[in-house]
Amino acid sequence: MYDRRVELLLDLEHGEGGLADRLYRQLSAAILGGRLRPGEPLPPSRELAAQLRVSRATVTLVYERLIAEGHCTARVGAGTFVSEDARRVPDGSRPSVWGRATGQVASATIARPAYDFRVGVPDAALFPSAAWRRQLTHELDAHLARGAHYGDAAGHTLLREGIAHHIGVARSVSAAPDDVVVTAGAIQAIDLLARVLLRPGDAVAVEEPGYPPVRQVFEAHGARVITMPVDEEGADPSALPPKTRLVYVTPSHQFPLGVVMSRSRRLTLLEWAARNRALVIEDDYDSEHRFRDRPLEPLHVLDADGVVAYVGTFSKSLVPALRIGYAIPPAGLVPALRRARELADGGGDPVAQGALGRLIASGEFAAHMRRARRTYRGRHRMLTEALGDDEHLRMIPSSAGLHVCAEVPSLPSGSARRIRDAAAVTGLALEVLDAYCAERPREGLVLGFGAIPAEHIPDGVRALRSVLRRVS
Ligand SMILES: Cc1ncc(COP(=O)(O)O)c(C=O)c1O
Repeated sequence: MYDRRVELLLDLEHGEGGLADRLYRQLSAAILGGRLRPGEPLPPSRELAAQLRVSRATVTLVYERLIAEGHCTARVGAGTFVSEDARRVPDGSRPSVWGRATGQVASATIARPAYDFRVGVPDAALFPSAAWRRQLTHELDAHLARGAHYGDAAGHTLLREGIAHHIGVARSVSAAPDDVVVTAGAIQAIDLLARVLLRPGDAVAVEEPGYPPVRQVFEAHGARVITMPVDEEGADPSALPPKTRLVYVTPSHQFPLGVVMSRSRRLTLLEWAARNRALVIEDDYDSEHRFRDRPLEPLHVLDADGVVAYVGTFSKSLVPALRIGYAIPPAGLVPALRRARELADGGGDPVAQGALGRLIASGEFAAHMRRARRTYRGRHRMLTEALGDDEHLRMIPSSAGLHVCAEVPSLPSGSARRIRDAAAVTGLALEVLDAYCAERPREGLVLGFGAIPAEHIPDGVRALRSVLRRVS
């Protein structure tokens, strides 16, 4: 129940008729429109009369009329309440210049599956809750003591320092705090770069298969999206048209295949971008979770010409709900990107950003990452070993991130979707490779291991194998 002491906003200055008529119309409209909900109390007549500077008799008269017409009921000693069966005008009856079909978004609520191989979901149980709460409280106190102003649109200083330190240590990316623009996740970093750089009709290259929201962001900016094929050496830049303005890649752990872009392709891409004055967006979304070989350096480290915008996120290292990511654009783009963020949303939540800066500075984030990497390494090993010897699956080798990908070469076309649907019936959630293909369909499965506890993996794999046997 909402707090009844909040003043109801009523306008008695305008409209036809006397005060009582106007008050009646305002209150009945609030009930019919749903601003006052069934069961909610009306303000006591004395309080409302004082608030509106009208006589109490006027308010009492209006309440009696609302009761007589069934909008409200009176409860002795308790006051006047909106009737439980008060009729509401259906939402859709309001006209809209946008029509009714816009803004449809798929539901984000997914029931918790028994075997949770969903992609891109980190383990909520690993989140360093106690440390986070402590840092959040410190930062909130500091924020209020400073006067609770808007934050710096490029991000809280403590967090920019923390990010510069973290990517220096974990990813060998050398950046000063002033080179960092904090964003609402990697997706906003990519959106802001697109805003700053693209004009409608510009060509933008993405990986195929790839991360669909990124393609959609570029399309929303009016770009002409072209694709680069991905093989075991990562995205292949050899056929990029010279007029391409922007190239988006995930070189350290290709999404969704998981392959690493070879050094020779990295050098080819950088050399091509410098020659064609294009920007390369390097999305390094989950490669802090690396389990075996020493990583190849990020493109950013190899970039001698200032063509790479490095993008990272805390969605996989902590939780996606934080909505904190970052971009390290080429130096000349920092002011434009900062301004774009300022215009987009004012720079986000300075308290959460400061708390994360403190978490990094205290060493608690690094400790969390060590723990998380150990946990995910174990799950990665279990899953790849268990799936590796299945006759129907051809695992695509990968040694980082929170998901693995397997092709199903021996099965007929359409099998992956049938496997996914049959698995869902048994409570097993996984994704199909095809969901990430925009132009050339591919048969395969993508399995996340961020959310599934290690002890569930053997049973989950057994359940998957029995589905594979049934579908093949
Ligand atoms: C390739 C890729 N980039 C970025 C992200 C994360 O985006 P954000 O930081 O906006 O949550 C994801 C999430 O699944 C992803 O798969």
